[in-house]
Amino acid sequence: MNKKITVVGAGFVGTTCAKRIIEKNLADVTLMDIVKDLPQGKALDLMQSAAIEGFSKKITGTNNYGDTRKSDIVIITAGSARKPGMSRDDLFKINSAIISEVVTQISKFSPGAIIIMVTNPLDAMSYLALKISGFPPGRVLGMAGILDSARYSYFLSEKLGCAPSEIQSMVLGGHGDTMVPAPRLSKFMGKPVTEFLPAGEIDEINRRTRDGGAEIVKLLKTGSAYYAPSSSAVKMAENIINDIHETIPCSVYLNGEYGLRDIYFGVPVKLCAGGLKEIVEIELTGEERDNLEKSARSVAETINKLK
Ligand code: NAI
Ligand code: 2OP
Repeated sequence: MNKKITVVGAGFVGTTCAKRIIEKNLADVTLMDIVKDLPQGKALDLMQSAAIEGFSKKITGTNNYGDTRKSDIVIITAGSARKPGMSRDDLFKINSAIISEVVTQISKFSPGAIIIMVTNPLDAMSYLALKISGFPPGRVLGMAGILDSARYSYFLSEKLGCAPSEIQSMVLGGHGDTMVPAPRLSKFMGKPVTEFLPAGEIDEINRRTRDGGAEIVKLLKTGSAYYAPSSSAVKMAENIINDIHETIPCSVYLNGEYGLRDIYFGVPVKLCAGGLKEIVEIELTGEERDNLEKSARSVAETINKLK
């Protein structure tokens, strides 16, 4: 039987996730939104591309959670996106009400699902989803590190004159202004990028990566990034469905790992068919640890508003 992925939120990120999932023939998709007819219209448009794109999986649009029943994975993108000048945390109030409602419905109709949270502020919304769903932490995952690392790879590749896929980047910590690009752990031809680029250039790329989302908000003016975010969320779904155990950064619940407790935070993990397989603990330098702790304090401040 085909796997079923529900995407909640038929906006820019959600619809692009749906498109990527069916074009990869990964799973059937249920696209859910509160706006009447919107997900149905997007689903119909996407299905009309099937004969050309050659996919066989189905996408259905709905405004009814009953249609999301027995999903294997639920990607949550419902909520407001950042407008120019808005931080991710400004979205906190609006989006926590939306996420509470969405997760209540999802856990009712798909009690065995794996949740991939996308809505911002990402780490806090993942924490909220864990608490509202009552799911085990290994089935509630947050998408951010893959996106931030992909941005880092792209910016580094421009400087190094290589393909972005030749760089294995690692950006850790919270999905916000304190995220921690880790050049020592980011490799080109098996060696840290610090061996190829001067410190000043790396500092500038680190800054641009931390501002990666805001740079796009400033250019788009009416919303935030969605092509790279949807690639990142679907990559997580793909690793789950195909049981691929590669090490990728995701926001997960920490209970002592990296010296942190009761927090969602970006760290290297391996996913598997059941969700989280393993949190990979990497030895950090003093500076990396200091930066991670600073980022953890900032994420904890937002999460504490939920308690
Ligand atoms: P969008 O505004 O295009 O789409 C959001 C959709 O959610 C809309 O269609 C809206 O009708 C729907 N929605 C609102 N309340 C709902 C509810 N109660 N139930 C179901 N659907 C509901 O926004 P976009 O660009 O798709 O972004 C979505 C979210 O993803 C934002 O919070 C944004 O900040 C976040 N994001 C997070 C990233 C990350 O790295 N974690 C990257 C990019 C975006
Ligand atoms: C991003 O990083 C807005 O969090 C979103 O693009």
